[in-house]
This record gives sequence, C-alpha cells and structure tokens, in this order.
Amino acid sequence: MDATEVVLRIKNQLVTRQLHRQLRMRNEHLEAQVRLRTKIVEQTQLDLLARLTLASEYRHDATGGHAWRVGRMAMLLAELKGLPADQVDMIKKAAPLHDVGKVGLLDAVILKTGPYDAADWEAMKQHTKIGSRLLSDSRAPLLMMAREIALTHHERWDGAGYHSIKEEQIPLTGRIVALADAFDVMTHPRSYKPTMTLSQARTEIEQEAGKQFDPELSALCLKLIDREGEKLLSHVGPLQLVA
Ligand SMILES: [Fe+2]
Repeated sequence: MDATEVVLRIKNQLVTRQLHRQLRMRNEHLEAQVRLRTKIVEQTQLDLLARLTLASEYRHDATGGHAWRVGRMAMLLAELKGLPADQVDMIKKAAPLHDVGKVGLLDAVILKTGPYDAADWEAMKQHTKIGSRLLSDSRAPLLMMAREIALTHHERWDGAGYHSIKEEQIPLTGRIVALADAFDVMTHPRSYKPTMTLSQARTEIEQEAGKQFDPELSALCLKLIDREGEKLLSHVGPLQLVA
C-alpha cells in the first residue's frame, strides 16, 4: 500500500463529502425559502380577497358577516357532498365573494329600504355580471372558482333563475352557494322579507328541493341543519376563514 496515495484518496473523499453536505444544505435552504415565499403569496391573495369582500359588505350587508357565513355553509355542504379536501377549502374561500358585484350597483337600488319593485330586481340582477367581470381573466384557480360562483349563485334548478340555465348546466359551485346564500338570507333580517326560524328555513328548503334548489344538495342541507342546528346561524369572522 502506498501511504501517500491512501492519504490523497482519503483527502479527496473528505472534500467530496464536504461538497455534498454543502450542496444539500444549500438546497434545503432554497426549498425552505421557496416554501416561505409561496406561503406569503397565498396569504397575500387570501388577504386581498378578504378585504375585497369586506369592501363589498360595507356597501350592502346590514346583517354583518353574511359573506363569511355563506363561505362556512358552502364549505360544509361541499364536504357533505364528498368533494376533495382542496375543493372544499377553495369553495370556503371563494364563496364569500359571491356578492362582490354589488359594489357596482346604484345607491338607489342597493340602499333602498322599502320593498323592491320589478325595476329594482332587474337592476339587482346585474350584480352577478358585475361580479363576474371583476373576477374574470385570472389564471388563479381560486379566482376562477370565485368568478363562476359570482355569476351563477342566483340560478335555480328549474331554470327560472337570473340567467335561465338549469339543473346540471349550473356549475356545482353555483348550486352549492345558491343554497348557502338562500339559507342565510332566510334566517337573517332583510328589509324586503320577514326572518325565518331555523325550522321554517328547513321546511322552505324541503319544499324548494327540485324547484329552486338542487334536490340532492337540498337533502344534504337538511341533514346539515339537523346536525348543526343553531350553530349554522352563529357569527363567523373573515380571519377565521382566511387563516
Ligand atoms: Fe347575490
């Protein structure tokens, strides 16, 4: 054995090992940086969407928290429907934006306290198209889903909704949020209608299954009302949804 060669080889091996270690540590550091930056970008997106929702709530929500309760209800319905976890999470975040188009409505319509006439309802319908325009042209899946919901959350299963599409022509997200939105409107005060109790809302959904609402989702909604009861009416804030 040549001692000089052995020493040289060991030295080379140690240098190689040292370089490998440095490379691995550098890669781990870079991966951690990428994860952190991705998290910041995602959080910024959610923060901005939450603030956009709050801005539109200032304009039209007398009950406070409607958008966030709809987000929670839509999430629970999507979960019961068996959607994958990432879709459930996305609908929870996208559904609160369903009425964002109301920022573009005239004060005379949005701030009216008396009952709505036919012209008021016609003007009110525009909020779905305005919302869709506000959220269009994004490649972010969350915004694409939010746009779909904004446009279709007033469709009816029987085709008598805002844009006259029916049954499964209406995207599933729109059908889910239609139910979640209607349930929250039924159970909270509005100037144009009396507030229902939980059991009255339950009866209304049962009667409207297959007419206003997707029958399968209606059955899931009744199940949810029976399971969660008054908890469905409790307040939920934006940060609870965004976190
Ligand atoms: Fe709406």
